[in-house]
Amino acid sequence: MSFRRVVYTVVTVCVVVVLAGLAWVWRPAISPISANAKPAFDRKAINRGAELALIGNCSDCHTKEGGAAYAGGRSIPTPFGTIYASNLTPDPDTGIGTWSEEAFGRAMHEGVDREGRQLYPAFPYDHFTHATKDDIHALYAYFMSLTPVRSTIPANELNFPFNYRPLVAGWKLLFLSRGNLAPDASKSADWNRGRYLVEGLGHCGSCHTPRNALGGEKKDSAYTGGVAEGWNAPPLNASLVAGHHWTVDQLAEYLSSGWHQLHGAAAGPMADVTKNLGQASKEDVHAMAVYIASLSGAGNETPKASPALVDAGNAANARPEIVAIYNGACAKCHNDRNTVGPSKALPLSLSTAIHQPEATNTVQVILNGIQSYRADGGPYMPAFDGMLTDDQIAALAQYVRTRYSGQPPWTDVRAMIAKARQQGAQP
Ligand code: HEC
Ligand code: HEC
Ligand code: HEC
Repeated sequence: MSFRRVVYTVVTVCVVVVLAGLAWVWRPAISPISANAKPAFDRKAINRGAELALIGNCSDCHTKEGGAAYAGGRSIPTPFGTIYASNLTPDPDTGIGTWSEEAFGRAMHEGVDREGRQLYPAFPYDHFTHATKDDIHALYAYFMSLTPVRSTIPANELNFPFNYRPLVAGWKLLFLSRGNLAPDASKSADWNRGRYLVEGLGHCGSCHTPRNALGGEKKDSAYTGGVAEGWNAPPLNASLVAGHHWTVDQLAEYLSSGWHQLHGAAAGPMADVTKNLGQASKEDVHAMAVYIASLSGAGNETPKASPALVDAGNAANARPEIVAIYNGACAKCHNDRNTVGPSKALPLSLSTAIHQPEATNTVQVILNGIQSYRADGGPYMPAFDGMLTDDQIAALAQYVRTRYSGQPPWTDVRAMIAKARQQGAQP
C-alpha cells in the first residue's frame, strides 16, 4: 500500500470513529413546555413526590447553605473539580420550568438534560435510573408544584478534559446500568421494597460503596465503606465495624431519628440523610432497614464488643496531660458506666468511628462536634476545634482509639486533622 493510501485509510477510519462516537453521544433536545401550559397534578402525586424527594436526599445537594429550598447552587467537590447542583424549582429561565415530564424522566434515568447535554454523575442518576415511572411522575409533580425561584447556577469548575461533557457518555457505558431491578421472589415484600429504595432513590451506595479512579462504584465491593465530604461512610455489609451488630429495629430508629442508644449519632453527611428520612414514610424507612440489615446478616443481636470495654493497658502510655483533658472535657458525657445522659453520648467503646481503620470520623467529630437538627433535643457534642491544638486532638484521638477499641493506634492522624481543618475553612 502506498503511503498516501495508508494516510487516507487512517484518516477515514478516524472520521468514522469520531462520527460514530458523536452519533452515540448525541441526544436530542426535548421541546420546552410553555410556562402557561404548566401541567396540573393531583395532591396525592405531589405529596408522594415530596416523600420520595426526602428519601432521595435531593435537598441536600440542591439547596445552598442559606439559599431557597431546591434553588440549587451548592458546590459539590469531586476529585475532578467542583460541580454546582442545578435549580430544581420550576423557574422557566434558571430552573426546570420548561421541562416536560419526559425531559425530567430522561434526566433521572439517563443523566441527560432537556437540551440533550450529558449530566455529570455527581448527580446520582446511576441510582435514580432504577426509579419507576410512577415515582418519577410523583417527583415531577412535586418539583413543578414548588414556587419558582430565580437562581442562576455558577459554571462548573472542572479540570481538562473533564470539563468536556460528552466524555460522560463513555463513563455511562462503563458504570450506568439502566432499568428496573427485578424483584427477588425468595425475599419478603419489605426486603424488595427496601432494596428498590436503597439501591434507587436512596442512593446509599453512592457514599457507602468505594469508587474507582474514574469515580464509578466498585460493584464487587458494594457497601464495604466509601468516602463522603471528608468523612468515611462505614461498611454496611458483613465487614461492619460498629461496636454492635445492627438489627432491623435499630436501623429503622437510627435512620429516622439520627441516633440509637447502642450505636450513637448520625454525624457529618449522614445527619442530612437521617434528617430527611425522619420526615419520610415510616413504612418506607422500615423497608430500607430490612434490606440494609440483610446486607450484614441481620438478626444477630450479640454485641461484637462488650459495651464497657476499657483497655486501660493499651492506653497506659498516654501522656498525663491528655488523660486530664479526656477526664475534664470528654468523660462527663462519655462515661464508662453505659448510662446515656441528656447529651445522648454513649460509652466510646460503642462508637463506630473509633473502630474504623482510619481516624477520619473521630477527628471530624472532635473538631466539629455534633449539632442536633432536632427540636426535641437530639444528640449534642461541642466542637473542640478552637479549644484544642492539633497535637492535643491527635493525642486524644489515639487515646480513645487504644483505650476503647482495643486496636492498634492509627497512622497519619496529624495529616488528617490538617486536611479536615482546611476543608472546614472552605466556604
Ligand atoms: C449528591 C448530590 C445530588 C443529589 C442527592 C441529587 N442531585 Fe440532582 N444534581 C446534582 C448535580 C451536581 C447536578 C448537576 C449535574 C451537572 O451539571 O451535570 C444535578 C442535576 C439534576 C437535574 C438536572 C437539572 C438541570 O437543569 O440540568 C435534575 C432533574 C436533578 N438533579 C434532580 C434530582 C432529584 C429529583 C434528586 C432527588 C431524588 C436529586 N437530583 C438529588 C446533584 C445531586
Ligand atoms: C452523603 C453520603 C451518605 C449517604 C447518601 C448515606 N450515608 Fe450513611 N453514612 C455516611 C457517613 C459519613 C456515615 C458516618 C457517620 C458518623 O460517623 O456518624 C454514615 C453512617 C451510616 C450508618 C451507621 C453505620 C455504623 O455502623 O455506625 C448507617 C446504618 C448508614 N449510614 C445507613 C445509610 C443508609 C441506609 C443510607 C441511604 C438511605 C445512607 N446511609 C446514605 C454517609 C452517607
Ligand atoms: C456535651 C457532651 C459531650 C462532650 C463534652 C463530648 N462528647 Fe463526644 N459525643 C457526644 C454525643 C452526644 C455523641 C453522639 C453519640 C455517641 O456516639 O456517643 C458523641 C460522639 C463522639 C464520638 C463518636 C462518633 C461516631 O460517629 O462514632 C467520639 C469519637 C467522641 N464523641 C469523642 C469525644 C471526645 C474525644 C470528647 C472530648 C474532647 C468528647 N467526645 C466530648 C457528646 C459529647
